[in-house]
Amino acid sequence: MAHIGYGDKVRKAVFPVAGMGSRFLPATKASPKEMMAVVDKPLIQYAVEEAIDAGITEMIFITGRTKRSIADHFDKAYELEHQLELHGKTDLLAIAQNIVPKGISCTYIRQTETLGLGHAVATASHLIGNEPFAVILADDLISSKKGALCQMVDIYEQYNSAVIAVQKIDGAAISAYGVISGVKQRDRIYQLDSIVEKPPYADAPSDLGVTGRYIFTPKIFAHLAALKPGAGGEYQLTDAIQALLTDEQVLAFEYEGIRYDCGSKLGLLKANIELGLRHHEIGDELRTYLKNELLAKL
Ligand code: UTP
Repeated sequence: MAHIGYGDKVRKAVFPVAGMGSRFLPATKASPKEMMAVVDKPLIQYAVEEAIDAGITEMIFITGRTKRSIADHFDKAYELEHQLELHGKTDLLAIAQNIVPKGISCTYIRQTETLGLGHAVATASHLIGNEPFAVILADDLISSKKGALCQMVDIYEQYNSAVIAVQKIDGAAISAYGVISGVKQRDRIYQLDSIVEKPPYADAPSDLGVTGRYIFTPKIFAHLAALKPGAGGEYQLTDAIQALLTDEQVLAFEYEGIRYDCGSKLGLLKANIELGLRHHEIGDELRTYLKNELLAKL
């Protein structure tokens, strides 16, 4: 019998980046929202760094129209490197050369139609095979001492079961999320009873909203293959997780860290300000500007 690799290490991560990013039009008309920068780094690079920090070595990007710049970003840039070298800009050269460290591979698959997040993840099934894998949504930027995915890998290795990231969401905003109900197992960990995509506020089963980090066993693929269009007419990952509950335990985990919803304009601006304040080059100047100049204008 084939080895069921559930106890194996999580080595692969899927990055669905094929969405329309319509909330950022016109910025996203010809370039992907995942390439938008927080201070000086695109969202997708934060996500890849978080994956590397969690021990992931194979990055699988589900791309679509207008996403070529993501592949370019993780590719070698000979001309740029040559120019930086020529001008003795060694610090910048090191940045350009270390975007993908040695031993990390990147693969790109096209999702030819943007039929939803569930459909996007299913597109990676033949590259995952029979082992656990992570899914990371780059527009949820999580700032934490220990990476959010690294925290989740610890939980996966301890319980040997699927883990999805959740966060407490105040008030009516919960209706923009996948929402779980579950039984608390211990501090920050819940055993899932059910999960529903974007419920009306009055029907939300809890205040725990799903954020963009998941670890799955390959059992999810059978449920993704059987999906029918759900909320918003899209093939919803949430519906596949609900179906997965008939097969195996799924845990919800309240990670430690601050999440910025960079899929929204306000979230992206907040991330730029807060990470800017912590940035070694511009932090002090930004603080002075915000205190002395900007506050006076408000
Ligand atoms: P969103 O719901 O944020 O959709 O998708 P979006 O299209 O990116 O953004 P808006 O709402 O139009 O502004 C959540 C994640 O799932 C990916 C997106 O790229 C994003 O990372 N996604 C969504 C896909 O890869 N394919 C899809 O068909 C849908």
